[in-house]
Amino acid sequence: MRYHLTSFGCQMNDHDSERMKGLLESIGYRESETRDGADLILFNTCTIRGSADDRFTGNLGDARRIKRENPDVVVAVGGCWAQAQKAMVFEQYPFVDIAFGPGEVSRLGELIARERIDAVGAFSFDGAFSGTLPAKRDRPHQAWVQISVGCNCVCAYCIVPAVRGRERSRTPQDIVDELRALADDGVREVTLLGQNVNAYGRDLPKDERMSFAELLRAAAAVDGIRRVRYTSPHPKDMREDVIAAMAETPEVCRHLHLPAQSGSTDVLRRMRRTYSRERYLELVHRLRDAIPDLSLTTDIIVGFPGETDEDFAQTMSLVREVRYDGAYTFVYSPRPGTEAAERMEDDVPAEVKRERIQALVELVQEVARERSARFVGTTGEVLVEGPSRTDPSRLRGRLSHNITVNFTGDAAPGSLVDVHITGATSTTLTGRQVPAAVPA
Ligand code: SAH
Ligand code: SF4
Ligand code: F3S
Repeated sequence: MRYHLTSFGCQMNDHDSERMKGLLESIGYRESETRDGADLILFNTCTIRGSADDRFTGNLGDARRIKRENPDVVVAVGGCWAQAQKAMVFEQYPFVDIAFGPGEVSRLGELIARERIDAVGAFSFDGAFSGTLPAKRDRPHQAWVQISVGCNCVCAYCIVPAVRGRERSRTPQDIVDELRALADDGVREVTLLGQNVNAYGRDLPKDERMSFAELLRAAAAVDGIRRVRYTSPHPKDMREDVIAAMAETPEVCRHLHLPAQSGSTDVLRRMRRTYSRERYLELVHRLRDAIPDLSLTTDIIVGFPGETDEDFAQTMSLVREVRYDGAYTFVYSPRPGTEAAERMEDDVPAEVKRERIQALVELVQEVARERSARFVGTTGEVLVEGPSRTDPSRLRGRLSHNITVNFTGDAAPGSLVDVHITGATSTTLTGRQVPAAVPA
């Protein structure tokens, strides 16, 4: 039996998809290169914005065609979109056999055995973190490690809490065991994952509790793990002890994705982000004082209900002031059931949203280009990931700062090498491997 899996959405979903693949292979399925060649067509879906829904339902049309040609094919839809739609999935898309939410990945095998059932009711969590299931990793030397699921925040625009449920942390012992096993398997870089990753641990019983800062140090201490990243933290939970753990632990990377969402205190308040522009900036200053060469990236939404020209100007000036190394920029999209969709008018005209996102994207690129230029002429440590995507005669890897480097060299994937940086665009660097110095 063969499966074909298409994954949409964030790293959390990519990671759940690795687990779905691992689970399917553990019950005898093999991966099919194409959808047409599969007995099981599986989608792991996202519903964060309207555009995510559209992208997925477009793909679902392809599954409908295949199912029409071969009724024996099983079509399964998992993830956040499935959770948001609940039983509507079968009403609207009768050719779908199985639907399950992001908390039910571990039941996939059972669902397939019992076909044509709906596991998606009210949000349910089957108790098995994806991190405890077998995985099929695409990247031999890098791994995601789920440390928590769910989100207890109430950001007014966001559908994640509704589809991923309340925050639940895995035990430190579980996480460290997984890190050790990954290191034994050749993994050198891990990314700790959670929707609000730095709120980790607060829900654990006292005798098992570990703070996020302690967990960072514990992860870095695992033999063989050379780099630790994490995503995504909430600025409100970015405490001193976390900053100190980053500053004092060389394995913890010099990059932080710190979603701002807006530069206007007014908008932030209506978004229920619980920080002001000033507090966010103050946090950035503390981070940069403690970790001088830190790279910062962010998420920004334009066109949130009530966003004025002045609010938007504040977002533009935040980008200039923080000098982000990169940013994901989004046009606000009302999500059914969220506070913003139900109680606020989507009153920024489409044309204005378009102008704003365009201006923001240009500014982000300009600032990112200035930032990446700082690496030219320096030598930095790169974790080799494999051949360059554009020129296979060269190698590809990343600095601790998370920027991709394409370089000439002969190091093996998974090794850490020094690379002299000779060129930069806003998103990538070029350079050449520097021969390892002979110790005196
Ligand atoms: N838990 C993570 C990721 C949330 S989703 C975090 O809090 O950072 C990723 C990004 O999508 C968010 O940071 C936000 O910028 C954007 N986003 C979420 N809901 C959105 C919506 N309704 N419209 C537009 N962008 C949205
Ligand atoms: Fe959504 Fe806010 Fe939670 Fe992030 S912190 S997942 S934006 S509710
Ligand atoms: Fe999308 Fe779900 Fe992630 S809605 S962004 S896949 S948490």
